[in-house]
Amino acid sequence: MEKRNLLNLLLLGALSLPTAGMLVPYATFFAPPGAGSATGGTVAKDAIGNDVIAEQWLKTHGPGDRTLTQGLKGDPTYLVVEKDRTLATYGINAVCTHLGCVVPFNTAENKFICPCHGSQYNDQGRVVRGPAPLSLALAHCDVGLDDGKVLFVPWVETDFRTGDAPWWS
Ligand code: FES
Repeated sequence: MEKRNLLNLLLLGALSLPTAGMLVPYATFFAPPGAGSATGGTVAKDAIGNDVIAEQWLKTHGPGDRTLTQGLKGDPTYLVVEKDRTLATYGINAVCTHLGCVVPFNTAENKFICPCHGSQYNDQGRVVRGPAPLSLALAHCDVGLDDGKVLFVPWVETDFRTGDAPWWS
């Protein structure tokens, strides 16, 4: 009996070790890119796919600027430059909450105006005219202490523009 148990154990070990070895790459395949950084954030990418460095960005983007970068889950996300030439602590997801068009910023009107059905959002992305039912989603915008890279981090707190819970999280 003991010999049979030992054989069973050896067989189980022989089967489970390779299985576990296969599961590791399988599991890591589903880990989102950018996960693993200290803050769990995603580094913002510019139009040609380079990491955004805050200091360099602010040299070429003046007060009031809103420029698209690649943000969380690859979503187009605006980096916002405040009037005092600092980066805002939030990024604005550019995907319209009506039917998903990417919403451009209209500098002359100081609003985001959707070209698809005319929804409007103020300069912080709060909806001011439908048919869009909700404000544009937010992400935290941090700057890495060590490398100065701009990081987007999921926004799970109250939406500061509306006082509501974030609909996107
Ligand atoms: Fe933006 Fe319809 S998709 S208004």
